[in-house]
Amino acid sequence: MHRERIKIGLLIHDLKVPLAVIETGIVSLLQRREKYGSLTEKQEKALARALRNTKVVQTLVNDALELGRSREGVVNVTSLRLSHLIEQCLIEIFDLVDRKTSERIKICTHLSLLRKELEQKGLMLFIDEDLWCQELYLDEAKVKQILRNLLNNALKYRKSRVELEVDKKDVHLVFSVKDDGEGIPSIYHKKIFESYFQMDDTDTHSVRGHGLGLAGVMVLVEDMGGELSLESDEGKGAKFLVKLPLANK
Ligand SMILES: Nc1ncnc2c1ncn2[C@@H]1O[C@H](COP(=O)(O)OP(=O)(O)O)[C@@H](O)[C@H]1O
Ligand SMILES: [Mg+2]
Repeated sequence: MHRERIKIGLLIHDLKVPLAVIETGIVSLLQRREKYGSLTEKQEKALARALRNTKVVQTLVNDALELGRSREGVVNVTSLRLSHLIEQCLIEIFDLVDRKTSERIKICTHLSLLRKELEQKGLMLFIDEDLWCQELYLDEAKVKQILRNLLNNALKYRKSRVELEVDKKDVHLVFSVKDDGEGIPSIYHKKIFESYFQMDDTDTHSVRGHGLGLAGVMVLVEDMGGELSLESDEGKGAKFLVKLPLANK
């Protein structure tokens, strides 16, 4: 293996211990009140949010280590409800930027309530009620990572609106993430999936990207035997389409 890859691997590997310490600390504060003292409702919420995000990072670190182990990528299929996967994903996204919305998403008991909540944020969710409740066989961590990256991009580059559409076609799960931002000129449609590629260095967004998200998403989609494509014209928003084969039991 290349020396640089080993060094990056070691770096990721060394994140595991401090992350475990952070997790243990938060869990102690949350669960051992007799020793650590009581918490206000606000403190409890802040800690729960910190814990959720620590777990997200731990999953990412584990995935990164696993990717290093197998160049093909390990696919880990389990049975899961689509509603659970999408809700988790949305909570993780809003945890970082808008924690009130994240709290409200958590208490949505029904698809229609969740839709209303998201609409307030300019995020439209289109999914059939039956599909929402279905159990599917998917690699949860990978699908979440794909969805999170595409949604984060769409939310970052949109003008005001993002649409997430989820559908099942035969033996495929098909979803698309569409925004109404500046879009991507067709000359960049291939390049955009290459590592470290960013369209515009002088972009006005406060958080600078790394050009790694879409390259990673492409690898994950390919690992699962799926397809990722882009429809976009300059000035007319971008639509990323993902088609994933569903495994049988
Ligand atoms: N929805 C989108 N609309 C317009 N441009 C986008 C969109 N998604 C990605 N891009 C462009 O593709 C580049 C690479 O995106 P990505 O791989 O997610 O990296 P990062 O988010 O780290 O910048 C971004 O810098 C941006 O220029
Ligand atoms: Mg990105």
